[in-house]
Amino acid sequence: MSTFENASRSELRDIAEKSKWFHAIDFGDFASSGRFPPGSPQNITLFGAMDLLGSIDLKGCRVLDIGSADGLASFGMKELGAREVVSIDSFDIPTYRLARKLLNLETDYRPRVQLKDAVSELGWKQFDVILCAGVIYHMLNPMSAFIECRKLIKDNGLLIMESPISTKFQEPVLALNTELDDFMPEPSTYWVPSKSAMTGMMKLMGFDICATRFLKAPTRFTVLGRAAPPAEVRDRNALLQKVHEIDFCDFEFQWKELAKHSGVSTVSCDIEAFHRDIAAEKEEASFPFQPQPREDAVGSTRWASAGGNFV
Ligand SMILES: C[S@@+](CC[C@H](N)C(=O)[O-])C[C@H]1O[C@@H](n2cnc3c(N)ncnc32)[C@H](O)[C@@H]1O
Repeated sequence: MSTFENASRSELRDIAEKSKWFHAIDFGDFASSGRFPPGSPQNITLFGAMDLLGSIDLKGCRVLDIGSADGLASFGMKELGAREVVSIDSFDIPTYRLARKLLNLETDYRPRVQLKDAVSELGWKQFDVILCAGVIYHMLNPMSAFIECRKLIKDNGLLIMESPISTKFQEPVLALNTELDDFMPEPSTYWVPSKSAMTGMMKLMGFDICATRFLKAPTRFTVLGRAAPPAEVRDRNALLQKVHEIDFCDFEFQWKELAKHSGVSTVSCDIEAFHRDIAAEKEEASFPFQPQPREDAVGSTRWASAGGNFV
């Protein structure tokens, strides 16, 4: 039973007022303050994912939200028709349970589960759709996020990966933040990928790229890929073809291990534009529980960075 089980709505609102929020969430009669300044568009780092999720038919889907924080994306996906939403996060974040209670939704919250442990906790090939937003740069080994997601997702399932990126590099690089001249000042940001590193890591793990979204300020990139047989991954060069044909010499991930597990998704998506630049200040994201800019949001935030990074 959740701590908030017997609380009245006004008691829940009082708790919301005293809470520190990462996401701005529209609860109808009031909204939580997100981490961006009052009056500005909230949750902007999720705008690419929100745009892509609007094109995916989530009905009947089993969905995983990795690094759910306060849960805005989890709750939105549930509202968009997902049959089951599982939310994992390294930490136990009380505002997730509070928001879920305020929205009266049912989701499967698994706090203190890191992505590296998700396969043993949840099993292979369990999900039709996976969202992994704002997580890979907090991982010492960002590539492992793509590996674990390939194990967790059903064949033909859809993965949305989102991260801050550096536009300084055209090459497929993962830049080590602590050695950059213009480093991101967050102590939990270890890596900053380039766009082509994001799409390249997806392709290496057998995701066919379906769409990309670029947010200019802060610079963030969102990639939608479908878990495909390697031969169906578009834009493979000769080396990547060979890599896929001979399997990996690192036993952390091998096609032959993946093939031992069943699970095929029928999730469909209807993406209008393969690529779109997103101008957050001009956009009003349309997504369940995404509030329009408002001055009267309750609560505060401990996350000061407009980059939306988790300090
Ligand atoms: C920057 S926030 C992003 C929150 C949300 N996904 C979004 O995009 O708005 C990162 C969240 O991921 C969680 N996180 C970081 N590393 C993780 C990992 N390896 N496994 C699971 N959760 C992780 C953090 O605790 C935090 O709640």
